[in-house]
Amino acid sequence: MIITIDGPAAAGKGTVSAYLADKYKLAYFDTGMVYRAVGLQMVLTENDVNDEDKAEQIAKELTFPKMIELSKHKDFRSDIGGQAASIVSAHPKVRAALLKMQQNFALNPTFADGTPARGVVYDGRDTGTVVCPNAELKIFITASTEVRAQRRYKEFVEKGIATSYDKVLQDMIARDKRDSSRATAPLKPAEDAVIIDTSDLSIDEVLQKIVPLVEAKL
Ligand code: DC
Repeated sequence: MIITIDGPAAAGKGTVSAYLADKYKLAYFDTGMVYRAVGLQMVLTENDVNDEDKAEQIAKELTFPKMIELSKHKDFRSDIGGQAASIVSAHPKVRAALLKMQQNFALNPTFADGTPARGVVYDGRDTGTVVCPNAELKIFITASTEVRAQRRYKEFVEKGIATSYDKVLQDMIARDKRDSSRATAPLKPAEDAVIIDTSDLSIDEVLQKIVPLVEAKL
């Protein structure tokens, strides 16, 4: 079974995906990690993130173990990593280089310890439209920009990452604009996706809407 959870940054995709993966014993693929890994590697090797050919080369060389290693870096989840990921993810050659790696995961899904899983929850921007257009269930989760910036700011504070709400909001606006206006795989719901606005919902209320959708597909 393949479930795709797409939507803008900090809409609640990660929480919902992790919950569904745990409840239904599915593997979880956070596809933002592949773009964060390439973006961070560009920054660490002092390349210009706008250099599409260099970013493509790094994307072609990316492996799962390398991605996991980079995910431990302090800037992987910071706004530096987020902006770099957003910029490299707009390069068509980078998206093409990373597509197979994301799609192949569904052919032989495994949990973090290597044991096989009976399906995958994909979390990203284009997993229902491009990565897995044949997924059994597609959900598009969104929320207002201010609510998402507030959530992301709270996460940063909890992790001890120094920033301000205004900076997070401005970054969120810039990232949304880039993610939705890029030529290749722009952020948009798949035609057959169920759209859920989480602005005024608690996580429990969101899950109460989603769980019956999954149960209906099982
Ligand atoms: O979900 P995230 O914040 O970790 O994603 C980081 C960036 O990666 C985001 O700005 C857009 C990009 N991304 C993408 O283009 N396609 C995906 N499927 C996932 C993320």
